[in-house]
Amino acid sequence: MAGGTVFVSVSMSLDGYIAPSSPEELMGRKWRALHQWTFPLRFTRENLKLGPGGEEGLDDDIARATFERTGASVMGKRMFEAGEHAWPEEAPFHTPVYVVTHEPREPWHRPGGTTFHFVTEGIEAALAQARAAAGDRDVRVAGGGETIVQLLDAGLVDELHVALSPVLMGEGVPLFRGVDAERVVLRQTSVQPSTRVTHLRYAVHRR
Ligand SMILES: NC(=O)c1ccc[n+]([C@@H]2O[C@H](COP(=O)([O-])OP(=O)(O)OC[C@H]3O[C@@H](n4cnc5c(N)ncnc54)[C@H](OP(=O)(O)O)[C@@H]3O)[C@@H](O)[C@H]2O)c1
Repeated sequence: MAGGTVFVSVSMSLDGYIAPSSPEELMGRKWRALHQWTFPLRFTRENLKLGPGGEEGLDDDIARATFERTGASVMGKRMFEAGEHAWPEEAPFHTPVYVVTHEPREPWHRPGGTTFHFVTEGIEAALAQARAAAGDRDVRVAGGGETIVQLLDAGLVDELHVALSPVLMGEGVPLFRGVDAERVVLRQTSVQPSTRVTHLRYAVHRR
């Protein structure tokens, strides 16, 4: 695939949530259920330095390919805050990450190649910086929902990958809260079920 594509890749519950509503519930039962498809994978074990082994197959191939195509990421401040203390010292991105925020902060360099840059000039500035840093690779819009919706509404996302988890959360952070449903149009490009989740892929257009 040619570089320069802007893509979203997230795990979503069947009822449309990507995280529990309160930070205290992060890493809790629902959060684990949402992400359970990633934990046993060989790629996850390698990337988080959890040790050798792990499952191979469709989910592993998808997780690895998603990582390998990514030259830089954009994320919202709340996603950053959720991960800041939870990610290992070698944060799992290994590429530049542009955090959209109202709060200026010096870049935060982590061992292993991840640098978090804090961008206060808005979502389009963050994406432009990520594109420049990604070179001939793609830009991942890592999350969370508020950040994804802004970029969808602005017509700046090319592809959407949802790993649909068979879990009902009842409440939480929705993926699509407030999206401009009149203008954002999806065209299904593939559906791949694994034993744990269903991978849904869409090309994204703006009406
Ligand atoms: N399931 C998954 O695959 C997945 C993936 C990613 C994230 N998540 C989860 O999603 C949750 C966070 O999602 P969220 O929708 O609540 O928040 P978010 O999109 O991560 O962050 C929103 C925050 O980013 C800053 N921001 C957003 N747009 C901005 C702009 N245009 N200019 C300046 N600052 C801007 C603001 O923070 P300030 O005003 O404080 O600076 C805003 O409150 C986390 O719990 C995370 O774990 C899940």
